[in-house]
Amino acid sequence: MADQWHRQSAPEPERLGGTATRGQTASPELIWQERLQKMMQDAEQNLPDGALTAGYKADPREIVALLQRAQAGEWSSFLQYWHHFFMASDLASAEIREVFKDHAEDEYEHARMFGERIQQLGGVPCDKPEDIAHFSPMPTEYNHDLRSMLEADLIGERQTIDFYEEIIRTCGFADNATRRLFEHALEEEVQHADELATILFAYDASTGKQIPTMHEELVKIAQERGQPQKMARRAS
Ligand SMILES: [Fe+2]
Ligand SMILES: [Fe+2]
Repeated sequence: MADQWHRQSAPEPERLGGTATRGQTASPELIWQERLQKMMQDAEQNLPDGALTAGYKADPREIVALLQRAQAGEWSSFLQYWHHFFMASDLASAEIREVFKDHAEDEYEHARMFGERIQQLGGVPCDKPEDIAHFSPMPTEYNHDLRSMLEADLIGERQTIDFYEEIIRTCGFADNATRRLFEHALEEEVQHADELATILFAYDASTGKQIPTMHEELVKIAQERGQPQKMARRAS
């Protein structure tokens, strides 16, 4: 029915400025009329491809491969945050525990939307545990002391930010739908990283010096327990 309507309602090229003759430049209206007619012809072909249309300009195999890795990373992050939520069970960690839970829920949603996009592009979502372990850009960290948990989560977020920046550049305007998904996820990963860094580090803006924070407390506890220093701090 929509097909019929389009064909019956489409204005004739003459009404839109006429067909260009030799030496004349075609009017924008005519150019768009022809483009739209071509799009309609293309849309009628390859119907089983669903949302993957003739106008798709990226290489779907490359985009699916990137989406699968990103989805594996999201499942890995989800598991890591969820594990940390369970393990940060002491009273002093109550607020941070909620941060872990909020982030876990965000990563679950990212994994869901990447899986949906993979299916739209004709691929298979990366949901099997062995595939997640193989394709995730970072290993899942199962830490049990608060400082290690926060540091591992922050490092994971920072790597994800760089990965998604690259994916967004790769999509460009060739795959706008995928690019917008990653732009949305990137915004949330940036918030995650900033929240974690704020918990771990804080600076006095007037002096530029680090002020005592939970990180200092955690460093002290780690030193008392003889745990190794493995975290580089942000520039002071
Ligand atoms: Fe995420
Ligand atoms: Fe995140």
